[in-house]
Amino acid sequence: MIIVENISKIKSEIQKISDKKIAFVPTMGALHDGHLVLVKKAQEIADIVVVSIFVNKAQFNDQNDYKNYPRQNLEDLKKLENAGVDLVFLPSDEEMFAEDFAFKIIPTKLVDCLCGSSRPGHFDGVALVVTKLFNIVKPDIAIFGQKDFQQLSIIKKLVSDLNLDVEIFAHETFREKNGLAMSSRNQRLSKDNKIKAAQIFKILSEIKNEVRKTPKNIDKILSEKSQELLKNSFEKIDYLEIREENNLKLINEFNDENPARIFIAVYLSGIRLIDNLPL
Ligand code: PAJ
Repeated sequence: MIIVENISKIKSEIQKISDKKIAFVPTMGALHDGHLVLVKKAQEIADIVVVSIFVNKAQFNDQNDYKNYPRQNLEDLKKLENAGVDLVFLPSDEEMFAEDFAFKIIPTKLVDCLCGSSRPGHFDGVALVVTKLFNIVKPDIAIFGQKDFQQLSIIKKLVSDLNLDVEIFAHETFREKNGLAMSSRNQRLSKDNKIKAAQIFKILSEIKNEVRKTPKNIDKILSEKSQELLKNSFEKIDYLEIREENNLKLINEFNDENPARIFIAVYLSGIRLIDNLPL
């Protein structure tokens, strides 16, 4: 496995293999099995797998969250080496964003809802770093998880609106046995709270079943389930909503012909957890 910290070096490594099909998995590190399934998928569909690890300051609206974000490069590199990754790009902040960096990319659709509402500027930072990473790695395919469905939707739109030459592959959410969606933030949950957090998936599954039975009752079902979560250790619900998959518009009645998804963001002991499930 080749580990590269600077942009010109990774560009020259990529240049050497330009005849090969390259799949790219961008990450912020603190790798877990949810990341590693993306790597496995990448290996299945391409000749060369490139992973980046970069905790992107530009996408953190809360500087405390940025400071506390888990950083464990040595463990991460071991996991990637064991997984058989070919190339790892591990740039420093200065390498990616020089002091006189002068540009922004601002998505104007798909951002005024869900995590976009509670994390102002977050998706500007994601769009910017992903565009830079695509320009540096020049992958044929890039793999993103449905765990961050809004991010995935915005990246698909970025690629299509800016005519970027990369295919986006959406991977389904990888979960613990109890249903909890894997996330780097789960590390900050106590053992007890990890068990409690499994209620998120349970509630999403119940909502799915109930909405499919009574598609006109969305508002009532969501308000009952919110109450249930608040009674069971979750201190705050950022959102619990059902939206169309294609444009993230809210719906209050489900129709099988229009793919929709349940989205949730909740706080458990101060830790914000997100998940989603197709209806
Ligand atoms: P990060 O949170 O590290 O996630 C990297 C990729 O792993 C994302 O595509 C995310 O959706 C996916 N992922 C995380 N948990 C997953 C799970 N349980 N199942 C499937 N996929 C999962 O998302 C980011 O980093 C950053 O915003 C990034 C795109 C790298 C830009 O900085």
